[in-house]
Amino acid sequence: MSEIYRASTTAPVNIAVIKYWGKRDPKLNLPTNSSLSVTLSQNDLRTHTTASCSASYPAEDSLLLNGKPQDVSGARTQACFRELRALRKEVEAKDSNAPKLSELPLKIVSENNFPTAAGLASSAAGFAALVRAIANLYELPADPTELSRIARQGSGSACRSLFGGYVGWEQGSEADGSDSKAFEVAPASHWPNMRAVILVVSAAKKDVSSTSGMQTTVATSSLFASRASETVPRRMKEMQDAIKNKDFETFAKVTMMDSNSFHATCLDTYPPIFYLNDVSRAAIKMVEQINNAAGKIIAAYTFDAGPNAVIYYLEENEKAVAGVFKTLLANKEGWSSERGAAVEGNYEAAEKANTEA
Ligand code: ADP
Ligand code: DP6
Ligand code: CO
Repeated sequence: MSEIYRASTTAPVNIAVIKYWGKRDPKLNLPTNSSLSVTLSQNDLRTHTTASCSASYPAEDSLLLNGKPQDVSGARTQACFRELRALRKEVEAKDSNAPKLSELPLKIVSENNFPTAAGLASSAAGFAALVRAIANLYELPADPTELSRIARQGSGSACRSLFGGYVGWEQGSEADGSDSKAFEVAPASHWPNMRAVILVVSAAKKDVSSTSGMQTTVATSSLFASRASETVPRRMKEMQDAIKNKDFETFAKVTMMDSNSFHATCLDTYPPIFYLNDVSRAAIKMVEQINNAAGKIIAAYTFDAGPNAVIYYLEENEKAVAGVFKTLLANKEGWSSERGAAVEGNYEAAEKANTEA
């Protein structure tokens, strides 16, 4: 019997408040604009991934997601495997006692405890977990910046899930993507009372994946160019200032406006992409009512590429925001609301690599 080497990890989702939408290089997943997100607590939404390798495995690398075999031949998964194997080879070159794991077939088993491909950032948590699990398996140095650069090639938004708290993704300008990576805007502890409630409007897989949707937008939308070159750069700065100053009203307003801007470019795509539905729009109205009743902005909605709402608020407004959603929606069909105790701090790799006979 050959040895099986194994390591596991978990990774959180992140929900952007300034959205990434558009690639300037689809192969390397280089974006047309910078973006900024909040990493949510793994107590609520998370991916759990185990990576293993063994000479006794079938020769092809494999990935089982929520119990179903996935195609790993795609360039993006392959790029992650290739980069991680290259780093492992460096370890093996330095230490002749290190087993040649880089030469063994990989078996990845992953579970998302929330809807996959439904606009709740499964690709972000998914690729962050995949990269960290293999890095743990290969006993690579767990530098989040380096892992973020690799995870970006699996799914752009995944680069931000390697960090906790408030996280930016600098678009970068190098052709090889070496300067396109995530950075910490502020740790979770800087503004720890941020919360998010997640309204699962539909757990169904989206019709148009993020990858293909953003490519059609870049190719056809006339609103897109000004969003990428003017609107987002201005908002990146406003958002970073709002986070530094813990200015919730500005944070919320910019969040809502950027979500609206992103969905406007989707509608402006040809053929148009509709990620929001009537229930999503009802959630937007409800946030407006909550803010009007409070006389100030205490809640902010944002939607990724799907109908599901994420509502940010501060803990002190729990009753007025999450409470209202829960009470009003408790008995309505098609809704479920989940608490996402919002901000995830810096986290350690959950489980260390181990080997077994
Ligand atoms: P989402 O809005 O959920 O991020 P995307 O369209 O961006 O949706 O990406 C969904 C795809 O991400 C899935 O079809 C799958 O290929 C990949 N993915 C999701 N979860 C995982 C995971 N845990 N491990 C590996 N890949 C994953
Ligand atoms: C709307 O990162 O899922 O959620 O790089 O093609 O995998 P790929 O796309 P993905 O796009 C995310 C789009 C978004 C906004 C965001 O998370 O910034
Ligand atoms: Co995604």
